[in-house]
Amino acid sequence: MDSGKQLTGTLAIAVFTVALGSLQYGYSLGVINAPQKVIEKHYGRSLGVWSERTAVPSENSTEEEAFSEAGQHPTVVMYWSLSVASFSIGGMVSSFLVGFVGDLRGRVKGMLMVNVLAVTAGLLMGFCKIWKPHIMVISGRAIMGFYCGLTSGLVPMYIGEIAPKAYRGALGTTHQLAIVVGILISQVIGLDFVLGNDDMWPLLLGLSGAPAILQSFLLPLCPESPRYLYIVLGKEEEARRSLYRLKGAYDASADVEEMKREKQEADKEAKVSILSLIGSSVYRKQLSVALMMHLSQQFSGINAIFYYSTSIFTRAGVGQPVYATIGVGVINTIFTLVSVALVDRAGRRTLILAGLGGMTCCAIALTVGLKLQNEYSWMSYVSMSAIFLFVSFFEIGPGPIPWFIVAELFSQGPRPAAIALAGCCNWTSNFIIGMTFPYIQTWLDSFVFILFAVLLLIFTMFTYRWVPETKGKSFQEIAAVFQKGRKKSPKAEITDTTELQQLKTSTDA
Ligand code: GLC
Repeated sequence: MDSGKQLTGTLAIAVFTVALGSLQYGYSLGVINAPQKVIEKHYGRSLGVWSERTAVPSENSTEEEAFSEAGQHPTVVMYWSLSVASFSIGGMVSSFLVGFVGDLRGRVKGMLMVNVLAVTAGLLMGFCKIWKPHIMVISGRAIMGFYCGLTSGLVPMYIGEIAPKAYRGALGTTHQLAIVVGILISQVIGLDFVLGNDDMWPLLLGLSGAPAILQSFLLPLCPESPRYLYIVLGKEEEARRSLYRLKGAYDASADVEEMKREKQEADKEAKVSILSLIGSSVYRKQLSVALMMHLSQQFSGINAIFYYSTSIFTRAGVGQPVYATIGVGVINTIFTLVSVALVDRAGRRTLILAGLGGMTCCAIALTVGLKLQNEYSWMSYVSMSAIFLFVSFFEIGPGPIPWFIVAELFSQGPRPAAIALAGCCNWTSNFIIGMTFPYIQTWLDSFVFILFAVLLLIFTMFTYRWVPETKGKSFQEIAAVFQKGRKKSPKAEITDTTELQQLKTSTDA
C-alpha cells in the first residue's frame, strides 16, 4: 500500500485523543450562553444586590422581572461580562506560548502537562458555590481560556505533523469537528430542564474540564510527532519508530527523506521567533495569508450568530429561539462532516472560496429578511434559512480550514511561531466581535449583517488572489509556491539569504 495512504488504529486513537482538547474548547465557547439568567441571579445573591427576601415579586412585578432586575444591576453586569470575556483573554495570552509548550517536551507531553489547567478550571467552576461564585467562575473561565489557547494551537500542529499527506485535510478538520460537537453538547445540556437550572449550573460549567481527564489516560498511548523527534531533536530512530506506530509496517524511507529535506531547510532557517517572523520579509506572504484566513474566520460574523443567536432569532420573529439555536448547532456539525469528506478532494482554496462567497449572499439575504419582516411575516423564514445556510457555508471551508492550513503553509522552522501568531489573531478578533456586536447591532439595527457582507466580499477577493492550493503537497512544495515569485529576482534572493543567515546567527549566539 502507498505509504502516504494508510489509516491505522493508532493514528485514529491519536487523532481522537487530541481532539478531546478541541471538544473542550467548543464546549467552553458554547456553555456560557444558555444559563446566563440563572447564573446572574446567583451572582446577584452572593454580591448582596438581590435576595429572595428583598426581591420578592411585588404587586407590580412578577418573579421573572425581579430576577431580571437583579441581572441588570451594574455590578452583576460587570461580573457577568468578565465571566464571558476572561475566557478569551486567557486564550489571547496563552496562544503566544504554543510554540514554547510544543517544543519543550514534545507535542504529546505538552498536551498532557496543560491538562492540569483544564482540570483546575473545571474544579473551580464545579465547586463555585462553596465560596464567591463570581470570583470562582471568572478565575475558572480565565484558566480554561488559557488552556484552550494552547490546545487550539497544539492540536492542529500535532495532527498536521502526524497525518499522511493524502488525509491531512480530513484529519485536520477533526479539530473543528470536535469544536462544533462540543458547542452542540453544551447547547443541549445547557437547556434548563437538563443542567442549565438553579441547582445544576455549576456542574454544567465544571463538566468543561471532564474531557481532559479522559485525555490524560489516552495521551500516553499516542506516538510523539515524528517531525518533532527528527527535525527538532534529531532522533532519526525514534522518529522511524513513531512512523511505524502511526502508519503500520511500511517502507518509511520516502517519509524519512522528506523529513530530512525539511530538516536541512530548518537547519538553514534556524528556529524563528515570533518577533523575527513578524519582521521577516521571507515569510511575509505566508504570514499575511495565515492571518487573513483567521481574520476571515472571525470577522465573517460567525460568532455573532453563536453568541447572540437567541436574540437574532427573536428579532427575526422566530418562535422557540432556543430550539432554533440548537438547530444551528446540528447544522453546524453536519456541514463540518461534509467538509471532512470534501476537503482532500475539492481542495482548501475551492472550499474557502465557496464558503466565503455563499456566506456573503446569506448575509445579504438575512439583511433583507430582517428589514422586511414587519411588512411580510413570511420573511422570518427567509431570515431563518439565511442563518442556517450562513452556518453551513462557514463549516464547508472558512471554519475548519484556517485552523490547519497554517501548519501547512510553514515549514518546521517558523511553524510554531506562525501558529502562535495566527492563534492570537483568532482569539483577539473573536474577543472583539463578542464584545462589540451588541453595540454594533444597536447602531446598525437590521443592517448589521451588511457590515459582515462587505467584509466577507473583501475576504473572498483576497482568497481568490492570494491563497494557493495546498492539497496533496509536501510542506516543501508549499513553501516553494510562496518563494517562487521572490526567487525570480536575484536581488530578492540575496536579501533572503542574508536575512535567513542573520536569523540563524541571532539564534546560535
Ligand atoms: C471556529 C471558530 C470559533 C467558532 C466555531 C463555530 O472554530 O474558531 O470561534 O465559534 O468555529 O463552529
